[in-house]
Amino acid sequence: MANLARIAVLVSGGGTNLQALIGAQRKNLLSSGRIELVISSNPGAYALERAKKAGIPGYAVSKKELGSQEAFEAEIMRLLKEYDIELIVLAGFMSILSKSFTASFPRRIINVHPSLIPSFCGQGFYGLRVHEAALAKGVKVTGATVHFVNEIPDGGEIIMQKAVSVREDDTPATLQKRVMRLAEWRILPAAVEKVSAEIISRK
Ligand code: GAR
Repeated sequence: MANLARIAVLVSGGGTNLQALIGAQRKNLLSSGRIELVISSNPGAYALERAKKAGIPGYAVSKKELGSQEAFEAEIMRLLKEYDIELIVLAGFMSILSKSFTASFPRRIINVHPSLIPSFCGQGFYGLRVHEAALAKGVKVTGATVHFVNEIPDGGEIIMQKAVSVREDDTPATLQKRVMRLAEWRILPAAVEKVSAEIISRK
């Protein structure tokens, strides 16, 4: 597997976006990169089960157990080095990474966010909260964004976006599911393939 970008996926929960990436890899839609490592900030995350089923090495790195953000990031960094990772994908990773961490990987960390950035993003906007805010505002269109990660939460360069219509009878949960199915699970694998192709073309 000499000329494939080596990918780590960082997760915290259910891992449906990780599953979409595993599915894309199986269908050869992710042909420029390969998922070599999964790291979960939550030892109980179902995402770790998905990694195991797919035969991908998975590790839990708990900030609570390690005691500080510095120790948490140092352990993640150690694993990334051990696996020689070139591209880090945040797929439902619910921890904000420090400036020194993000600065170590310029244009090498990407994130999926469940809204059309710059709406409903930044500190405090994650998971279901994003959809609650979109419904409270009464927007008729929302969606998902994949972007590069820099020191500003949800502030890095946008790679891909996809819009999804809001329905009159949507709840945060129904909207979340539809945004995942119609937007996140499609644009995340496409964006990972695009960035992986760019990485290997520069090797
Ligand atoms: C996804 O909707 C993802 O976009 C969101 O959390 C969910 C994780 O689901 N991420 C954020 O809100 C980050 N700001 P998953 O674990 O099933 O992929």
